[in-house]
Amino acid sequence: MPKITLLKLLCVFVSLFLLCGCKSRVVDNEQVKPGEKIVLKFSHVVAEDTPKGLAARKFAELLEKRTGGRVEVQVFPNSTLYSDGEEMTALRNGSVHIIAPSTSKLGDLFPRWQIFDVPYIFKDSNHVHLAMRGETGKALYGDLEQGGIYPLAFWDNGFKQISNRIRPLVHPSDFKDLTFRVMMNSTVLKEQFRCMGAIPIQMSFHEVYGALSSHAVDGQENTMSNISSQKFYESQPYLTVSNHAFMGYVVMMDKKFWQELPPDIRTALGEVMKEVTPWETRQAEIINQRDMKAIRESGKVDIHMQTPGEREEWKNSLRELYIKLPGIVGPRLVDELDDWSDNDLKQ
Ligand code: LMR
Repeated sequence: MPKITLLKLLCVFVSLFLLCGCKSRVVDNEQVKPGEKIVLKFSHVVAEDTPKGLAARKFAELLEKRTGGRVEVQVFPNSTLYSDGEEMTALRNGSVHIIAPSTSKLGDLFPRWQIFDVPYIFKDSNHVHLAMRGETGKALYGDLEQGGIYPLAFWDNGFKQISNRIRPLVHPSDFKDLTFRVMMNSTVLKEQFRCMGAIPIQMSFHEVYGALSSHAVDGQENTMSNISSQKFYESQPYLTVSNHAFMGYVVMMDKKFWQELPPDIRTALGEVMKEVTPWETRQAEIINQRDMKAIRESGKVDIHMQTPGEREEWKNSLRELYIKLPGIVGPRLVDELDDWSDNDLKQ
């Protein structure tokens, strides 16, 4: 048989295997007999050696142990099962059971989640976590539940930095006419770059490396762990540590699917997630620092640390976006965050 035919057959076999394998084995409580194994597919788009990648693995291992092997979590990293544009549909139709998209990607279905894309609104990770434990978190999680999504946890990936291949990004005028990849579904991200005089281009995460190295786009924004693990820095000689916005993830399940899991499994899942989440937060700190050091030591990137004065300049050039925010994100949420005082942050 010619080689090409064998290859085609193999592709068909793998596709059929994935399609069949993606069918959920749990439909409702009655159908999960005692002792029957529950397979949960966890799909994400980043590398394994990242905060989300490592936490997904740890979650899988702990849950399997905690349930005496009754639950098996199969983790699919690096968009191997579904990419950005596909994960939410796959979750809803039961082809996958857990996803952890970054909050920006929820922007089309749940616009208020774009609050995390607003530049300089969160002062640090502590501010983010306080907000998520308070009224802001309640409102945001409420939106998801109303939309049929069960949020399991909020995971960190730290603050985003900006890189490009043309020139150092120090002042807003340096952005003029440059093209930047932005994450899917966020109006705030597009407006952010437009305000700075640049051209935003929406793109799935798995396409970014190719777009940067072929110069289809000039730059991108992301956390150090993603810039390093995806090797974006190889074609991005200028990087500004701007810490302008936070990248968080919502680990989620389809609400109906969650409700149909046996109660003891739901309890175990919740407990394990509670244990893994603070560990994930710590990993985000460690890995982002480690990866910044690695990028610096690669000698390939000129790293500029943004000064407080430059931060104010960037904020001023973003004024038009701040004015439009109530129309995009909703007035209540923005007012609430604006009211956070330094005292609140120390509590
Ligand atoms: C991106 O698309 O840049 C990120 O959301 C990827 C991720 O999940 O960290």
